[in-house]
Amino acid sequence: MKERTFVALKPDAVKRKLVGKIIERFENKGFEIVAMKMIKLDREMAEKYYEEHKGREYFERLINFMTSGRMIAMVIEGENAVSVVRKMIGKTNPAEADPGTIRGDFALTTPDNIIHASDSKESAEREIKLFFKEGEIFSE
Ligand code: PPS
Repeated sequence: MKERTFVALKPDAVKRKLVGKIIERFENKGFEIVAMKMIKLDREMAEKYYEEHKGREYFERLINFMTSGRMIAMVIEGENAVSVVRKMIGKTNPAEADPGTIRGDFALTTPDNIIHASDSKESAEREIKLFFKEGEIFSE
């Protein structure tokens, strides 16, 4: 089933110039990038984005990291995009992520784990709406 998911290349991915390498993986897999922009999150936007994690002990660290530099926001479209993209990015803790996954190959620690992808269709819808207007998404 064709669906959309939201992907963020975090500030460490931009700083380390890994954007091209990561996008290439999604394109090689057969996914379509139907929206993309560079942004720098302010605190308000970052807290909205991670609202379901408010209260966790790492929340402050995560918000500081996500507001520390530019990131790339994308909408990726394709068959079972939500679950396949989550598989491709690997486990949240990069030390436990399998080699061959994006976090497994490019990261070692949190919160600088390179990439975020929606964990459900509902999150994807919420996150896409937070970052993109309908007119900014270009589906074939
Ligand atoms: S999940 O599966 O994405 O919901 O993962 P979860 O473990 O619930 O983590 C939620 C987000 O918090 C980030 N995270 C952390 N940041 C800083 N320090 C620590 N210890 C830490 N553990 C988890 C994690 O990267 C998730 O953000 P995203 O953007 O989804 O990667």
